[in-house]
Amino acid sequence: MQRINMAPLSSRGTGFFRTLLTRCRTPGPGQSRTPDRCRLSSLPSSPPPPGTWQQLSRLSHPDLYRLSVTDPDRFWGSAAADRLRWVEPFHRVRDCDLSSGRISWFVGGKLNVSVNCLDVHVEKHPDRVALIWERDEPGTEVKVTYRELLETTCRLANTLKSHGIQKGDRVAIYMPVSPLAVAAMLACARIGAVHTVVFAGFSSEALAGRIQDAGCKAVVTCNQGVRGARVIDLKSTVDAAVKSCPTVQHVFVSQRTQQPAAMGRLDVPLEEVMSRQSSVCPAEPLDSEDLLFLLYTSGSTGKPKGVVHTQAGYLLYTSLTHQYVFDYRDGDVFGCVADVGWITGHSYVVYGPLCNGATTVLFESTPVYPNPGRYWETVQRLRISQFYGAPTALRLLLKYDDSWVKKYDRSSLRTLGSVGEPINHEAWHWFHSVVGEGRCPLVDTWWQTETGGVCIAPRPAEEGAAIVPAMAMRPFFGIQPVLMGEKGEPLSGNSVSGALCISQPWPGMARSIYGDHQRFIDAYFKPYPGNYFTGDGAFRSEEGYYQITGRMDDVINVSGHRLGTAEIEDALDEHPAVPETAVIGIPHDIKGEVPFAFVVLKDDPGLDPPVVLQQLRNLVSTKIAKYAVPDHFLVVKRLPKTRSGKIMRRILRKVAMETTGDLGDVSTLDDPSVVKEIIEAHELYRKQKK
Ligand code: WT7
Repeated sequence: MQRINMAPLSSRGTGFFRTLLTRCRTPGPGQSRTPDRCRLSSLPSSPPPPGTWQQLSRLSHPDLYRLSVTDPDRFWGSAAADRLRWVEPFHRVRDCDLSSGRISWFVGGKLNVSVNCLDVHVEKHPDRVALIWERDEPGTEVKVTYRELLETTCRLANTLKSHGIQKGDRVAIYMPVSPLAVAAMLACARIGAVHTVVFAGFSSEALAGRIQDAGCKAVVTCNQGVRGARVIDLKSTVDAAVKSCPTVQHVFVSQRTQQPAAMGRLDVPLEEVMSRQSSVCPAEPLDSEDLLFLLYTSGSTGKPKGVVHTQAGYLLYTSLTHQYVFDYRDGDVFGCVADVGWITGHSYVVYGPLCNGATTVLFESTPVYPNPGRYWETVQRLRISQFYGAPTALRLLLKYDDSWVKKYDRSSLRTLGSVGEPINHEAWHWFHSVVGEGRCPLVDTWWQTETGGVCIAPRPAEEGAAIVPAMAMRPFFGIQPVLMGEKGEPLSGNSVSGALCISQPWPGMARSIYGDHQRFIDAYFKPYPGNYFTGDGAFRSEEGYYQITGRMDDVINVSGHRLGTAEIEDALDEHPAVPETAVIGIPHDIKGEVPFAFVVLKDDPGLDPPVVLQQLRNLVSTKIAKYAVPDHFLVVKRLPKTRSGKIMRRILRKVAMETTGDLGDVSTLDDPSVVKEIIEAHELYRKQKK
């Protein structure tokens, strides 16, 4: 490939050069690359010369940020060329048009994600520990080196291949955090199969829905899971799910416990078959934009969406954020306690850390098993350098005596991180001062399944820059946040609140919704044309820092897990005695938010409401998951609706939160007397609860 020397950094922003850079596009095949206008016009798309990233990364963080947004081709092109191993180099850094949902990075490049996460490290330090599996029982951790993880991944990849799984096939992984779950993800990546990890707390129906939507050919699972000394049967959940999934040809079953699982027609004993396979598996060269994985998440409709992530851009973005946001350095033990079933587990337990050659912790247990000191005892025993967790766990732990923290040595900790939901001040200060002894930067990281990696976080910043408590603060490299006003106009200046959008594409962003690209466009790019809409609101402070204010749609966040209220309503509405329901989220001091269900029952004297409510709880738990079961059910005669039949959730929220003093404008209600009815029902409910 012809390399074109880029202008030295000092000429950044000079008029003529910049104008061409921003205006021109890549020449098509066969077009001239001679030194004329056309050649200059190819500059933004050409990968910078090797070694550019090394030079750039010596810049101060504010300068690097400036470069990342003024010259994203140079920034991302050099990072991709120098940080990743390519089978074939890319010839164009990006080809994106947000208004039509076309997002393509590192065009024409070929690489393999598993090679970047394993082989490149095995060449340099085969015996470095890749994974520390912190199993449920404290003190029984298992270490897996990069060499071992590569071998296991290859055996698993060969197992998949020998059962007919090929490039492009979808594979569901229904497993708790474990080295085999990681190997299954990487094995898919090695052969070009597309994994979809389903959180092992989801019900068989929820699992089946995802397998059907993705058209999975195989499922990888284990007999049982173990968490907080409780044994959870997973195989039977998979058995129930695959009954309605005709695309599934094989179920690979690993043995987490001694308990033998009943094996049926589709089932393959994983460890046994793997042991007969070769520990070498050639890696499939994949296009930058081939699918890496799908991850289902909730939106504002009842049907979860399969968020699509692809190869190179995702890997680059997760590795770069992992290094810079958490100040990861060679030799660190990175402790992200998320489950691999969520995006946090994908990006910061698996892909980001492994791409950087880190030692990453797989946490199988709970924050309170066998006692509330578990996290900190683990930090001491494993010498963890970065601890990345969820506010909901912190809010639970801070209720116990600080001695549960202080009795363990936390001197190995260097950075603390929080993710998944807004962190309240009390939790932030406790984490920072009690756990971190005030000496570790605590980063509140804002991002989403769709963003692939952290987008707003206090780091990176100039060395020593102060962190504002409980605030995500700064955009990461390449991220350009915009706040939009009520009329869809971008808000300028500071001390303003609006809808949080990102105005330029970045490599880690989702590429589509599986099987429904139109939904992708409608959900993220239609509301504010040309911008990615996050669904969150945010405030830009006087200093220009970002504070996330919460979801603007009907999505709630229960213990850091995203849930669409419509999903819960769909499950409840299946009950024959329930003509109508409305679910909203209300604040909860540990879980952040909990669902509150308003339920209309059929006018039938034979109905026993407590029995129906119990049946409704069971319905949500079997259709979605236990954590989705509403904490509150209020039986009402009618729901407050506008004349056009739309439920006024604003009023329901006020009733549930007991702020009916100011109901706002109720003039659009079809029948305002319904409000009084519901308030009375709620008062009765409160009295009975006491
Ligand atoms: C939603 C995304 C990011 C991985 C885990 C959740 C909320 C996430 C923060 C934060 C305030 C946050 C947002 C976002 N959220 N992090 N630091 N402060 N809110 O991923 O399930 O895709 O949920 O979680 O509302 O939109 P997810």
